[in-house]
Amino acid sequence: MIIARTFEELRAARATLGSIGFVPTMGALHEGHLSLIEAAKTAGLPVAASIFVNPTQFGPREDFARYPRDEAGDLAKLEEAGCALAWLPTADIMYPPHDSTHIQMAGPALHWEGASRPGHFNGVATVVAKLFGQLRPQAAYFGEKDWQQVQVVSRMVADLVLPVEIVPVPTVREADGLALSSRNRYLTAEERRAAPRLYATLTHAAQEIVAGKEVAATLHHARHELAQAGMVPDYVALVHAQSLEAVSGLVHPARLIAAAKLGHVRLLDNLPVG
Ligand code: PAF
Repeated sequence: MIIARTFEELRAARATLGSIGFVPTMGALHEGHLSLIEAAKTAGLPVAASIFVNPTQFGPREDFARYPRDEAGDLAKLEEAGCALAWLPTADIMYPPHDSTHIQMAGPALHWEGASRPGHFNGVATVVAKLFGQLRPQAAYFGEKDWQQVQVVSRMVADLVLPVEIVPVPTVREADGLALSSRNRYLTAEERRAAPRLYATLTHAAQEIVAGKEVAATLHHARHELAQAGMVPDYVALVHAQSLEAVSGLVHPARLIAAAKLGHVRLLDNLPVG
């Protein structure tokens, strides 16, 4: 595996590879990230992964400084997973002095994570567009756990007419249903036991909606269930799966999305409905 940290190293490495599949990450890699690499390999593409903890997608009171970092461990995992290239840019490379161009997202970025984390998706879209420009991948792989992020990136790629295919990859879960996330490591033992209730609650709510139960009442009950499990629900919503607009009845395609705080950890999850 080639490790590139400068533009010169990236250019030299990129010249040795033809079409590539790309997996952007912020490091602290887990099985979810490895499933993205596996998906790219299955498509028959050499895989490039990036590790960059992107400051512009964190709010001032969020966990940028505390975000888990384990470069040596991550590189070993990428190598073992069969990555051809690891791109580890510095903040100066991604945001050069006098940097003045930022993407401002509307549409699917406006609600939910976008409302609770102002500026978050502008930061994601900006860094992802820069990474696409640097790596020029044929396809890029994103985990469905961050469903709204996948829709935002897809919208950005369509709007900027970027020549890259966005490939969503199903969420990887622990045996008890908890969606894998780099931040799960911050859960206490007690919180970890409660955390799978998010997936269980969404699964039950999705079944109820498909069975014809009133959506508003089902969502209200789901929020109550999460609170009972010790969580502080931010939102539980039924949305159009691509626009992320809230819907009051079953549409196609629909997604049930939720975010809840458990201790200091913000848990996210989502499911298709119908
Ligand atoms: O999902 C992530 O890890 C990040 O949002 C991404 C896509 C790597 C952009 O920084």
